[in-house]
Amino acid sequence: MTLLRILDYAHSLMEDSLTEGDIAVDGTCGNGHDTLFLANLVGETGHVYGFDIQPDAIANTKARLEEHDAYVQTSLIHDSHANLSEHIHNDHHNQIQAGIFNLGYLPGSDKSVVTKPEETIASIESLLHQVKKGGLIVLVVYHGHPGGKEEKEAVLRYVESLDQKNVRALQYGFINQKNTPPFIIALEKQ
Ligand SMILES: C[S@@+](CC[C@H](N)C(=O)[O-])C[C@H]1O[C@@H](n2cnc3c(N)ncnc32)[C@H](O)[C@@H]1O
Repeated sequence: MTLLRILDYAHSLMEDSLTEGDIAVDGTCGNGHDTLFLANLVGETGHVYGFDIQPDAIANTKARLEEHDAYVQTSLIHDSHANLSEHIHNDHHNQIQAGIFNLGYLPGSDKSVVTKPEETIASIESLLHQVKKGGLIVLVVYHGHPGGKEEKEAVLRYVESLDQKNVRALQYGFINQKNTPPFIIALEKQ
C-alpha cells in the first residue's frame, strides 16, 4: 500500500462518489482533465457542469471532451463558479452528487488569473446547497502563488466553521514536502 498522491486521492474520492447517471460539477475546468474524468464516470446518462472564466480554458476543455466522445454529457459555462446556481438546470437542482475545484492558476497560461477567496467560498456555499445528502465536494488547494496563502487561509477558516451536523470536513496532505505542496479538503454533506 502507498499513500495516494494529491491528485490521485482527489480522483479516488470522485470515483468512490460518482456512478453512471449522476450529476457532477467541475468548478475550474482549466484544460479539462478533471471535466473529462467526471464525464467518463457519469457516462452519457449523467451530466457534468464545467466552469471557467477563461475562454481558452473552455475551448480546450471542449476539444478534450470531443476528442474522447464525452461532450454530449457536459455543459461548459464561461462564467465564475460563484454564479454556479444560476446555470444548473431546474431538474438538477439539489441533485448534484459531487463537485471538484482545483484552486490557483492554470499551468502554462496567464498566472495572474487565479481563483479568489470570495468567489471560491461563494461557490462552495452554493454547491453545498445543490449537492444531495451524502454528496461530496473536493477542493485541491494550491497555495504557492501570489494570493494563494490568503485564499488557503480564508477557505480553511470557512470550512472549519461549517457545522459538523451538516458537513463532515476532511483535510488530506503531506506535511513534510518542500515548496508549499497542495492539499485536499473534502466536504461530505450530511
Ligand atoms: C488549477 S486550474 C484548473 C486545472 C484543471 N482542473 C485541469 O484539469 O486542467 C484553475 C482554473 O480556475 C479558473 N478560474 C479562476 N477563477 C475562476 C472562477 N471564479 N470561476 C471559474 N473558474 C475560475 C482558471 O481560469 C483556471 O483555468
